[in-house]
Amino acid sequence: MRTMTCIEDLRQSARRKVPRMFFDYAESGSYAQETLRANRADLERIKLRQRILLDVAGRSTQTTLLGDKVALPLALAPIGLCGMQHGDGEILACRAAQQAGIPFCLSTMSIGSIEDVEQAVGKPFWFQLYVMKDRGFVRALIERAKAAKCSALVLTVDLQVLGQRHSDIRNGLTVPPEVRIKNIIDIATKPAWALGILRGRRRTFGNLAGHVRGMDNVNSLSQWIAGQFDPALSWKDVEWIAGLWGGKLILKGILDVEDARIAAKTGAAALVVSNHGGRQLDGAPSSIAALAPIVEAVGSAIEVLFDGGVRSGQDILRALALGARACLSGRAYIYGLGAGGQAGVARAIEIMKNELDVSMALTGVTRIADINRSVIAAM
Ligand SMILES: Cc1cc2nc3c(=O)[nH]c(=O)nc-3n(C[C@H](O)[C@H](O)[C@H](O)COP(=O)(O)O)c2cc1C
Repeated sequence: MRTMTCIEDLRQSARRKVPRMFFDYAESGSYAQETLRANRADLERIKLRQRILLDVAGRSTQTTLLGDKVALPLALAPIGLCGMQHGDGEILACRAAQQAGIPFCLSTMSIGSIEDVEQAVGKPFWFQLYVMKDRGFVRALIERAKAAKCSALVLTVDLQVLGQRHSDIRNGLTVPPEVRIKNIIDIATKPAWALGILRGRRRTFGNLAGHVRGMDNVNSLSQWIAGQFDPALSWKDVEWIAGLWGGKLILKGILDVEDARIAAKTGAAALVVSNHGGRQLDGAPSSIAALAPIVEAVGSAIEVLFDGGVRSGQDILRALALGARACLSGRAYIYGLGAGGQAGVARAIEIMKNELDVSMALTGVTRIADINRSVIAAM
């Protein structure tokens, strides 16, 4: 992993190792991918202010997130089908995050279940909830997350309907992979991936299998999921969930100041400024463009987290400069997972941490708390 110098190296390696269908699934955005591209382009447009001859010895990237100490202002974002990028992907990523001293968030749509991950790792992790029409199932999921002592519930609020990703349709994305000649040939050229998946504990949606009545095979499960995202979801449901959960709640997927103001009144501990990595409303602004106005409106009332396009420590610095408390990493760590399992995720985190540390030094700050707009160059 030492020769992996940046997230792009990990991405290239993952591209070679992970079957096309799952690599494309991670890589893509919805529709014309305008918002996906804007996430990166708008981050790159923010230039950092080079400062010199300030004493920057004794730096630290440590900070707190939801009151807990973290080694750097970063958490691993919930990623559906994470365990299809690498066998036991959720467990490996969670271990890497915990060893690096940052939170890991397990998706509702994970391969490894809440219980699988709980049994395999040493410390509590976050759980991400999608609210399904089947509220009994939602209640049960919350109970399972509580029983596993998950330390925060991340309620995703930007997926009442599903944005379309063209490549998933073209590739026939299913779990496990659809038996098409094209897919068989592709998987045959990725034997290490296939072996990892075969050795892994599961090959289907771990949180759903066996818990959804009458849904034992994968195809019926996939159909059930597609029909279960709830367009009628509303702020009333957020209240219901907050009541059931009773612990730290994070609302993920807020891009609008008006929504942020409502979110800040729910009693949630944090919100995540996010457009789902450019996978939902195509044509929406980049996450980084939405960040500063939201921080200005609600930053004193609620912790504001950020995701969308983070591929380096410099990006973390940019988001913190605009007021984010911390960032979530999606694809950056997924590339690490595909490239090298747990070691790859550990490397992705290490790369971003080192980049953050050096960029802090070169912009003249030594503590996370001192990062503000003064590290951004006037344009
Ligand atoms: C492959 C993939 C799967 C995702 N699955 C979920 C999910 O199950 N739940 C969720 O809340 N967000 C999901 N997201 C969104 C991420 O949590 C996060 O918001 C996004 O990846 C951040 O953008 P980035 O990938 O550019 O870092 C997914 C993103 C990707 C790329």
